[in-house]
Amino acid sequence: MANKADNQIKWVLNKMPKSDDKQVANMSLEEMSKANNFHKSFPQYSVTPLTGLPHLAEYLGLKKLYVKDESYRFGLNAFKVLGGSYAIARYMAQQLGKDVSEVPYDVLTSEKLKEDFGQATFFTATDGNHGRGVAWAANKLGQKCVVRMPKGTTQTRLNNIAKENATVTIENLNYDECVRMAAKEAAETEHGIMVQDTAWEGYEEIPTWIMQGYGTLALEADHQLEEDNCRPTHIFIQAGVGSLAGAVVGYFANRFKENPPIMTVVEAKAADCLFRSASKGDGSRVDVTGDMLTIMAGLACGEPNTVSWDILRNHADAFVSCPDWVSANGTRIYSSPMKGDERVISGESGSVTMGLVAAIMTKPELKELKEALKLDENSQVLLVSSEGDTDPDRYREIVWEGLCGTDKEPFADLQEN
Ligand SMILES: Cc1ncc(COP(=O)(O)O)c(C=O)c1O
Repeated sequence: MANKADNQIKWVLNKMPKSDDKQVANMSLEEMSKANNFHKSFPQYSVTPLTGLPHLAEYLGLKKLYVKDESYRFGLNAFKVLGGSYAIARYMAQQLGKDVSEVPYDVLTSEKLKEDFGQATFFTATDGNHGRGVAWAANKLGQKCVVRMPKGTTQTRLNNIAKENATVTIENLNYDECVRMAAKEAAETEHGIMVQDTAWEGYEEIPTWIMQGYGTLALEADHQLEEDNCRPTHIFIQAGVGSLAGAVVGYFANRFKENPPIMTVVEAKAADCLFRSASKGDGSRVDVTGDMLTIMAGLACGEPNTVSWDILRNHADAFVSCPDWVSANGTRIYSSPMKGDERVISGESGSVTMGLVAAIMTKPELKELKEALKLDENSQVLLVSSEGDTDPDRYREIVWEGLCGTDKEPFADLQEN
């Protein structure tokens, strides 16, 4: 059983020195609109719901609480396909000397384009959702795909990728080691291209496109909030390597330059590399290594994205590290809504921000964080449920059986602080 200190939510406010902040411009409204226009060309495209939870907001003492529900994205149950599909399109357009606006879905899937572009193999490493998105896009565009998955991932997640005609394996490696393996294989393969959802020094162009692809969800949410006459005062966004967080924080930092919402980055405790970096406080990145065991499979990444880190260190307000019970609680809260609110099906990596907001608003030991973030009855909060029940068995274990962590510890013990 985990000890009590392991079960606590930890947080740090952003006191890091600013950098030259050159990456935030890549998440401009223009760039995000360009990505959104590309996504709109897909027959599978529709705007995912922004679900208001007014009764829960009232219960928690907030003015408004919204969740952008990415379980509806392209029939793939997670937001990740937005990034992989856009990066592949940008890459193919670049190879053909075209702008991405000239290669919408029907052009990309045409015989003519296949003849011009030829056959490529896209390589990636994944805990599940990103690889599924890349495999789906490659399959739709008639390209090959190879996916490497870390130990600890589930057969269900592998099967979903195999269905998209990809070569996929589970390796005896952690996520970051799988990234290095896939990158090496791509380099050794003729017309092999690495499409990874994280950046490192020397590999930043494709990850930047991936982050711009995620911009579609930020832009949609922004428009949906506007239609509801709501300007968000707070955004909580979950992070693995931080690409999604960088895209969302970057978008809203550009959107509300003068008075941005208070933005909080939320991680799984087992892989809290951004929290540790922020805690170090000098602006440098800190890696987490090892197995990174957590039910939040999508957040089990220990090496921060370099592009995203530059955005987060300049524009995020706080970094929070959450044990697994926080995400499990979030899943259950979404699953059993207050009377009159809608139900949201949110998987382990999708629900941690809900679990966190509920904990901040109800637990006396988090009063200091609540005050630091200025969360009160005037707050209009935006969350992103980044996945649905991508692993349905695990989802049921959490909701029906009260699972709280990777080793099936009882619910009550884990919640004590
Ligand atoms: C469902 C889900 N949410 C959030 C994330 C975190 O995204 P990032 O690694 O860009 O921080 C992932 C990453 O795979 C994911 O699958």
